[in-house]
Amino acid sequence: MSEELNISKGTKTEQYESLLPQIKAVVEAETDLIANLANVCACLKEQFGWLWVGFYLVKDDELVLGPFQGPLACTRIKKGKGVCGTSWEKKETLVVADVNAFPGHIACSSLSLSEIVVPVMRGNKVVAVLDVDSERYNFFDKTDQQYLEALVNFIVF
Ligand code: SME
Repeated sequence: MSEELNISKGTKTEQYESLLPQIKAVVEAETDLIANLANVCACLKEQFGWLWVGFYLVKDDELVLGPFQGPLACTRIKKGKGVCGTSWEKKETLVVADVNAFPGHIACSSLSLSEIVVPVMRGNKVVAVLDVDSERYNFFDKTDQQYLEALVNFIVF
């Protein structure tokens, strides 16, 4: 496995098109979940430079912080709480253009202004969420949603 990422400088779509096969190769070469989640975060952070990118894992009745890249984050989130807990409850991706306008948003970093949360579904159950934060308003869109939803399906939970 190559341990160097080939960073694309194209459009957002071009960046995802270049990055996703590389991430797929990385996670297919390893069976350990935590190792794979850690490398997925590293690849996304290196390509896009987002403020924060990480996973929360469903453990019993809460989300518990997993591998991430970025500033210190809150460790536990209840179902239905914040953007992450709401995505878990609704079993759907949430794109939040302005976190301050999202009722109950959990502010881990005051620098975070917009956010996307993608639930990781296995069967009918959410097993984790992928959370990404930006320092800019209205930063995430359908393109991010489409590619991040595809990405979480590469990972074997
Ligand atoms: N903002 C999230 C909490 C997690 S941090 O952004 C890393 C939320 O409202 O669920």
